[in-house]
Amino acid sequence: MNRYNDGDIAAIYRVIEQRRDMRHFLPDPLEPALLQRLLRAAHLGPSVGFMQPWRFIRITDSSLRQRIHTLVDEERQHTAAALGQRQDEFMRLKVEGIRDCGELLVVALMDRREQHIFGRRTMPQMDLASVACAIQNLWLAARAEGIGMGWVSLFDPEALGTLLHLPTGATPVAVLCLGHVPAFYTEPMLQQENWATRQPLEALVFENTWQHDQAGNPSPDATA
Ligand SMILES: Cc1cc2nc3c(=O)[nH]c(=O)nc-3n(C[C@H](O)[C@H](O)[C@H](O)COP(=O)(O)O)c2cc1C
Repeated sequence: MNRYNDGDIAAIYRVIEQRRDMRHFLPDPLEPALLQRLLRAAHLGPSVGFMQPWRFIRITDSSLRQRIHTLVDEERQHTAAALGQRQDEFMRLKVEGIRDCGELLVVALMDRREQHIFGRRTMPQMDLASVACAIQNLWLAARAEGIGMGWVSLFDPEALGTLLHLPTGATPVAVLCLGHVPAFYTEPMLQQENWATRQPLEALVFENTWQHDQAGNPSPDATA
């Protein structure tokens, strides 16, 4: 039989539904064996041409962690300025838990990716899609283990790459805050804070051709 049993299937859907992007953490460290399981889950992710473009950098130096926080905070200010009308609302949001989480990881795309052509000739960005798949595996495994994860993308990749001595061609794509949490949010924090809402699935599933909405707009927008 190919199908999992009902209990296992329910667990898969439950972890998908209950995974949250977390920004509030307890300071307790992650048990090494647990971290290893999470990294292995990430490494089992699919990748274009099986290129496995992900690299994981554990940040264990507290001064380095602080410098990463500074980089993120700088970008937070730039993002706020670029948001115009929603600037103040954005500044009130908590968008990272870098200083509080038990474990901090930076995920980077490897160097020399241009050698990998399979599945990337017309869409080289499939390397990034592959890294995202690995991160999602880690995210789901963490949730099942009772561990929170927050994906932070507010940083200048060049500055972070320099800070971490990435080789030419490699680029950081995610700062991941991992750790024990007081409680998982029951819905996306950006929804709790009225920044955006989850769109109805029906508005996003089309048949045969792209469907414009009734107002003639090409695409619905969660933050409109
Ligand atoms: C690629 C990516 C980058 C993200 N970057 C950030 C970030 O910099 N700061 C943040 O607070 N949340 C970030 N998030 C989390 C999203 O805000 C979150 O996934 C979304 O609000 C839905 O909430 P949920 O993940 O709890 O379902 C990121 C998510 C993804 C997939």
